[in-house]
Amino acid sequence: MALSIVHAQSGSQPDVAGIPINDQLTISKCGGCHRRDPAGLMTRISYIRTTPEVWEQAIKRMIRLNGLSATPQEVRDIVRYLSNNNGLAPEEMAAGFWEVEHRTQGYQDDHVSNPALQKTCNNCHNIGRVLAQRRTREDYQKLLAMHIGMFPSAENVFRPQRTKAVPIEEAPVHLTANDTGGINREAPRATAASAVNAKAPGAIAVDYLATSQPLITPEWTAWRAAMRAPKLAGTWLVSAYQPGRGRIYGQVVITPGASDDLFSTTTQLTYASSGASLKLTGKSIVYTGYSWRGRSGAAAMSPLPVTAASAPVTAASGIPAEWREAMMVSRDGNSMDGRWFWSGFGELGMDVHLVRASAEPAILGTDISALQSPSHGQVKIFGGNLPSSLQPSDFIFGPGITVTKVVNATPTLATIEVDIAAKAPVGMRDLTIGRAGKIKALAVYDKIAYIEVSPNAQISRLGGIKWPKEFAQYEARAYAAGPDGKPHTADDLDLGPVSAQWSMEEFFSTPDDDDILFVGKIDDSGLFTPSFEGPNPERKKVNSNFGVDNYGDVWAVATYKDAAGVTHKAKSYLVVTVPNYTLYDQPEVAQQ
Ligand code: HEC
Ligand code: HEC
Repeated sequence: MALSIVHAQSGSQPDVAGIPINDQLTISKCGGCHRRDPAGLMTRISYIRTTPEVWEQAIKRMIRLNGLSATPQEVRDIVRYLSNNNGLAPEEMAAGFWEVEHRTQGYQDDHVSNPALQKTCNNCHNIGRVLAQRRTREDYQKLLAMHIGMFPSAENVFRPQRTKAVPIEEAPVHLTANDTGGINREAPRATAASAVNAKAPGAIAVDYLATSQPLITPEWTAWRAAMRAPKLAGTWLVSAYQPGRGRIYGQVVITPGASDDLFSTTTQLTYASSGASLKLTGKSIVYTGYSWRGRSGAAAMSPLPVTAASAPVTAASGIPAEWREAMMVSRDGNSMDGRWFWSGFGELGMDVHLVRASAEPAILGTDISALQSPSHGQVKIFGGNLPSSLQPSDFIFGPGITVTKVVNATPTLATIEVDIAAKAPVGMRDLTIGRAGKIKALAVYDKIAYIEVSPNAQISRLGGIKWPKEFAQYEARAYAAGPDGKPHTADDLDLGPVSAQWSMEEFFSTPDDDDILFVGKIDDSGLFTPSFEGPNPERKKVNSNFGVDNYGDVWAVATYKDAAGVTHKAKSYLVVTVPNYTLYDQPEVAQQ
């Protein structure tokens, strides 16, 4: 598949490099409106590169608004062709892949690559969709024109905000409270009209996008030359992490599907802390040579020891009926990274790392994340092809840790007993077994200095009647002060999650704040389940007034008593708000 760029002979984009479209189905379905010239360039389509999700979204809009008729299978085939022919290079995808992974944590602003996009594109939707665009300048202009035509408030965002001059006699007086409880009266101030000829925010955004995210890039040219259908069949070792549930290990067996980009999977995972296991079977498709989208279901799942209170609502057993998988395959085809999330509840999921299993022994990781000095305990080591005749001296964790006994050893799991000496050097330890190694397998520490709640702020949405609830998963992590003995410094050691007790405290923001009574409940795994949406007759802010919604802001509080009997406390800010009443299109591209 060699990349060809040709210069348009005719049509609306003279002398602009575009990408020829040579797929018969795409030409026949789209060509009626998107004219194709003799060089194979089609209007609009040849001047855009983006993700499978955005291609699908655009095609859905063609059906909804522009009168395209196509069957679901035809749409899937066109999405597949366009994602390969007009897709993104892995380096280009990396910046916005969190959107594909349905990550909800963090702040959008952290991802906005330029202030020109902050008050424009990010005003209405995720910035991930914008970072995943590569277009010509002219096509960005058309994208903005489409927005102005279709979404009325886009006009206000893209055009300059002209403000009228306010003369002093019309200027308002500002009243502000002063420190002693009195009122400050600020003198009225006249304001000048804002510059009418200032460059429109939309034009600034287009300038930025056309220069920083152009249609043809060295990354794409290089990737098109290297792109191939990935040979993924075989056994893969999984190490994963699910906030609230901890470390997960297992394997995925991948078998080829009907074509070279389709695969079937059989997955077996074990939650390291509880020993609970999960068996899944699934199907997946790999777009653009690296971009894995899969779904796997609980074909024959073993029941998980989850209490009813900690079980999110989709399945009685507390595990999703279906997982969605979004991963990027590495360029050498030997590892994959991404996230598997709950179908319908993207806020719940696990970070996954897959490596191809080989004949060599491999260490995936340990069940626990820290060992205290001095102590004696058991460690489980998950791996692949571990030797069966292991001796205590085969396990090396570094100074101060002595392996006293191999309790049990199978090719995927070794259980050992360890002694941690008093004054064993504090720090992250690597583990080696023969030639196999795991960097920073676990921490050795003397005492817990403090705990933190992760993430440090989160949003949750009311629901359950008409809209889905949006859950918020917390975890409490312990830290040691590190070699310098001072807490909250750069050398602090992350000791991993601890099983804290959870509660809520009021975040005082309104008079008689009563949010903790209404917003929802947090269980002993740190999972916050929001209350129902809509007015609650039981909650009246003013007597004889109507009931108000169950929204509010609170602290999620973790309390943990460590082995030495010291009680640690930490908290995180939780905003519980109304459902996503305007749920924009959520394209799914994993169906085949
Ligand atoms: C019945 C006419 C019609 C057909 C058929 C049609 N389109 Fe469109 N398309 C339009 C019009 C009109 C626009 C410009 C307005 C807009 O963006 O909706 C457009 C715009 C687009 C855009 C630009 C949207 C953006 O993100 O800026 C893309 C991409 C696109 N079409 C893809 C397709 C593909 C792929 C097909 C075939 C599967 C297709 N169209 C079939 C009429 C059509
Ligand atoms: C006024 C709100 C608003 C603003 C501002 C806005 N968008 Fe959109 N955008 C939308 C809506 C609504 C849709 C389509 C509906 C949906 O997401 O389901 C959309 C769709 C898109 C799509 C998908 C293409 C398609 O054919 O559907 C892209 C790409 C996009 N926007 C990029 C941008 C960029 C780039 C900017 C900034 C220059 C921007 N948007 C600013 C509201 C907005």
